[in-house]
This record gives sequence, C-alpha cells and structure tokens, in this order.
Amino acid sequence: MLRPPPPTAIPAPARPELPRHIGIIMDGNGRWAKRRHLPRAAGHRAGVRAIRRVMEACNDAGVHILTLYAFSTENWQRPRGEVSSLMRLFEETMDSEVEELNAKGVQLRVIGDRAKLSPRLRRKVDDCEALTAHNGANILNVAINYGGRSELVEAIRELASNGVDLRALDEATLSAALYTSGLPDPDLIIRTAGELRVSNFLLWQGAYAELHVTEALWPDFAPGDLAEALGDFSSRRRTFGQVADPAGADLGTALATPVG
Ligand code: FPP
Repeated sequence: MLRPPPPTAIPAPARPELPRHIGIIMDGNGRWAKRRHLPRAAGHRAGVRAIRRVMEACNDAGVHILTLYAFSTENWQRPRGEVSSLMRLFEETMDSEVEELNAKGVQLRVIGDRAKLSPRLRRKVDDCEALTAHNGANILNVAINYGGRSELVEAIRELASNGVDLRALDEATLSAALYTSGLPDPDLIIRTAGELRVSNFLLWQGAYAELHVTEALWPDFAPGDLAEALGDFSSRRRTFGQVADPAGADLGTALATPVG
C-alpha cells in the first residue's frame, strides 16, 4: 500500500502530561448546514475553517501530532454530488493551505488507500507531501479513503507478499506496516456531534486511546472545546490494562483474605 513519507521527526508535546497525538473524528458538518438551511457542501467548507482553528489551538496548547478523519472507506456511499464536492474541497484546501502549512513547519501526510482517488488528487497529495516532507515541528495526518479494517488487511497482505512469515507475526512488525508507522499511537480521540462510535478510525492505533465525545458539531468546534477535551484527558487515569495502584491491590487482597 502507498504510504506517506516517513515522519522526519516525532515532535514531543510541550508537557509530558499532554497527549502526544490526537485523532479527531470530525462529525456534524451536514447537521450544521441543515440547521442553517444550507447545502451540505457548505457544512464541509465550514469544517475546513474549523480545522485551521483547531490546528492553531493544538499548536498553542503544545500538541504537535494530529490525525483528522476526513473521508472514510464507507463515505463513497454518499450521494455522488457530495462525494465529488468533498474531493474538490480536498484539492482546493491543499492548494490554498500547503504553503502556509509548510511555512509553519507542518509535515502533511495523507493516510488511506489512494488507489481510488482521482489522478489529479493523488498528484496533489504527492506534491504536498513532497513539499512538507522535511518539516518536523508538527505532523498533520489527513485520513482520506481511510478505514482501519482495510488498513490492517492491506498491511498483512503486503507483509505476506514481502515474504514475512505470518505465523511469526508480532505487534511491532504489524504496527510498522501501517500508514502511521513510526508515529506514537493517539493518546486521545475526539469525536464531535455526539455519536458514541469509533467508525473504523485508527482501530489498531487507538487501542488505548482515551475517548472524548462532544455534542459540538465539527464546524462549531472551537479552541474552548479543545481545552475541554484536554482537561477531560488530564482527568483520566490511564492504566493500559494494568492495576493503577498495586499497593492498593495488595491491600484489597489482604482485606479479602480471611484472618484468624
Ligand atoms: C462528517 O460530517 C464530515 C465529513 C465526512 C467530511 C469532513 C471533511 C472536511 C471537514 C474537509 C477536510 C479537508 C481537508 C483537506 C483536511 P457529516 O457530513 O457526516 O455530518 P452529519 O453527520 O451531520 O451529516
């Protein structure tokens, strides 16, 4: 599978307690437009404006790796007009934003199956990635035609065709075969517009991500919503499946042990 250039550097968060990497499921563009009696495409355009604000807010907060879910493998089933307006929007946004992203030291990477994208969009993706490949201050992954299941299937197929013995496959080898190879897993996944689903987003990488769901529709998502998500994240106790307080666990065992 075609991958973006490898990350040049892995930018660390400003403080160790911040997430190193945030994934965002940007949902609610259609509802935002509907509430304003606008076409859905207007919601997606407003969504691009929100991306700008949120990237700046992440950078100001000290979070430097962001992955945005822009178009899923399932989104092709939307009406043809909406799909083509989204594809146009991806091209226009790359054209209008890439110089500034580059000037700000952002490495832009597109993750997902590019084979189904138009040759023109693929060329733009290649150009933007080439232009920004050496930046290391921030990493922006944009997931286009991305699905976590298909990413895993494609990676395993590729490993098999490269002669890797799948009977001896381990987690590090599989991780290194994904689009996100070399990047830390997301510590926090934010979903807007209230749905409580992961919708095929970073299934492997998000295994231990903290989830934050907000009712805000994506075009309305503002720096204050990011601050709220970061506050929520900082209140979580992350145990990665282990016991948070082994001393307390021992005490629990001791108390449960009959005495006398
Ligand atoms: C979900 O809202 C949003 C999308 C499927 C598209 C998101 C894409 C953008 C904001 C453009 C990004 C562009 C670049 C280049 C990064 P929805 O349409 O599912 O909303 P609904 O659930 O309210 O109908």
